[in-house]
Amino acid sequence: MSLISTEQRRIGPFEVGPVGFGCWRFTNDRVDEAAAILNAALDLGINLIDCADVYGYDWGGQGFGENEAILGRIISADPSLRARMVLATKGGIRPPLPYNSGREYLTGAVHDSLKRLSVDRVDIFMIHRPDMYTHPEELAGTLTALREAGKVAEFGVSNYAAHQSDALQRFLDFPLVTDQMEYSITHLDPMRNGVLDRCMREGVTPMPWSPLGGGALATGKGLNADLVAKMDELADRESVSRAAIAVAFVLAHPSRAVPLLGSQSPDRLAEQAAAVTVSLDREDVYALIQLSEGQALP
Ligand SMILES: NC(=O)c1ccc[n+]([C@@H]2O[C@H](COP(=O)([O-])OP(=O)(O)OC[C@H]3O[C@@H](n4cnc5c(N)ncnc54)[C@H](OP(=O)(O)O)[C@@H]3O)[C@@H](O)[C@H]2O)c1
Repeated sequence: MSLISTEQRRIGPFEVGPVGFGCWRFTNDRVDEAAAILNAALDLGINLIDCADVYGYDWGGQGFGENEAILGRIISADPSLRARMVLATKGGIRPPLPYNSGREYLTGAVHDSLKRLSVDRVDIFMIHRPDMYTHPEELAGTLTALREAGKVAEFGVSNYAAHQSDALQRFLDFPLVTDQMEYSITHLDPMRNGVLDRCMREGVTPMPWSPLGGGALATGKGLNADLVAKMDELADRESVSRAAIAVAFVLAHPSRAVPLLGSQSPDRLAEQAAAVTVSLDREDVYALIQLSEGQALP
């Protein structure tokens, strides 16, 4: 029996497809090209669109806020797109300062994001990385005020340890609904460090980032040859690409995650979205884990 759950996911009032589209690498001088990529994702049923205010700062971008601004230009040119997407963004990183979740900063950051995105409200806002110098009670107050002001519908965290999420949740009157973590065949920590367990305990939707390990699981570059051979065997068996097997592995976890695809190629997005057609059983996923870790599980 396949472990992969292909149904739509409920995130608060929103329904999203089993894979999402990430805008980290969305930097593009040509707004029409960027719009074509976004439309390709939406046409594939990929309606969760994940951005962050810091996207554009690296990965070939010109600066902070750039990728939100590109999305905003696309939405302004075709406002009908807004209703087709569940729009998520993140804040709390302001280079060169690593993290700031202080009330004044974060409130301003959300307002700035809304302006760049040309929207009145985002559907999901996530704290990009934990700021160890903001008390969770202060942060909870900031999020509550943003929700009451109608600026954000639902909140989540990103790169939080499970106990950090618990500390924030303790001061909130509404549930955190999403959690972003690095999770893939080559980054298995969340299976064991409590992050995915907490998501299942609390009914939080995980949004694993870099499901292809940033591309390595598609190219095979830097991976052990036995792991690549196993992925290729499964890809042949399932008539999909190696990359789709990597995405399917993330979908197989019982937390009903929504992996965020980072490709900027419509063809590759389609190829990877085919992960939902894949059937993986325990034998398959444990083989991949053991080959990735280079040793047998105890
Ligand atoms: N919360 C966080 O801290 C955090 C951190 C990182 C990322 N994220 C989110 O997760 C999303 C996905 O992350 P990611 O971009 O690292 O995901 P990924 O899907 O692991 O990697 C995407 C990269 O792989 C390349 N790729 C895909 N298929 C390929 C193939 N067949 N051959 C060669 N290269 C291939 C893509 O290039 P092409 O474009 O050429 O296909 C792209 O550069 C981001 O956009 C962002 O939304 C969140």
